[in-house]
Amino acid sequence: MKDWTNFQSRTYGNNISELLVEFFKKNNVKNAIDLGCGSGNETVYMVKKGIHVLAIDRQLNKDYILNRLSEDEKKYVTFSESSFEDINLPKTELITAFFSIPFCNPDDFDTLWNKIYNSLEDNGYFIGQLFGDRDSWSIDETINTFSIERVKEYLKNYKILKFEEVESIRESDNKKWHFFDIIAKKK
Ligand SMILES: C[S@@+](CC[C@H](N)C(=O)[O-])C[C@H]1O[C@@H](n2cnc3c(N)ncnc32)[C@H](O)[C@@H]1O
Repeated sequence: MKDWTNFQSRTYGNNISELLVEFFKKNNVKNAIDLGCGSGNETVYMVKKGIHVLAIDRQLNKDYILNRLSEDEKKYVTFSESSFEDINLPKTELITAFFSIPFCNPDDFDTLWNKIYNSLEDNGYFIGQLFGDRDSWSIDETINTFSIERVKEYLKNYKILKFEEVESIRESDNKKWHFFDIIAKKK
């Protein structure tokens, strides 16, 4: 199992996802699930907007979230230290998954994807990324990467509010990125 704790401490306090900022310019929700919340930057951002957030991660660091919240705000967050492979998701208006669900065991990805759909209320939203097949991780059999056609197939039961293909090379280590930024609404 890959250890994400260094990544979490490195990204603590980073800018939050632009996708999420964009979403809240036009939409709002009362509750959300942050899947693979990591250091919890997006969880904290949503809680401070008065949204009830269930923060989920297999390597959960509650303190990274709680130490940024007032006593009142803490009432808005709940936690689940669980794995995508055997997760239970309650009903919710929004599921966020920033650079997280591609790391689900590929044998369990379709089940997870269906659980996400089923847990969303009617007209609920999914926001996050899926990796493309030109990402350098596409040769890693433990990581889910998909063709653009396959990603669109996964989204067929959603109305697409934003779909952007991103392809770039990280200068520091030549890592090739290929992913899809997604904001989608359950039909
Ligand atoms: C790349 S980090 C992204 C974290 C955060 N969403 C962000 O954007 O900073 C992936 C996160 O997913 C979690 N994760 C990876 N595989 C997981 C799994 N199978 N089940 C639950 N969480 C997992 C890791 O612990 C990590 O916090």
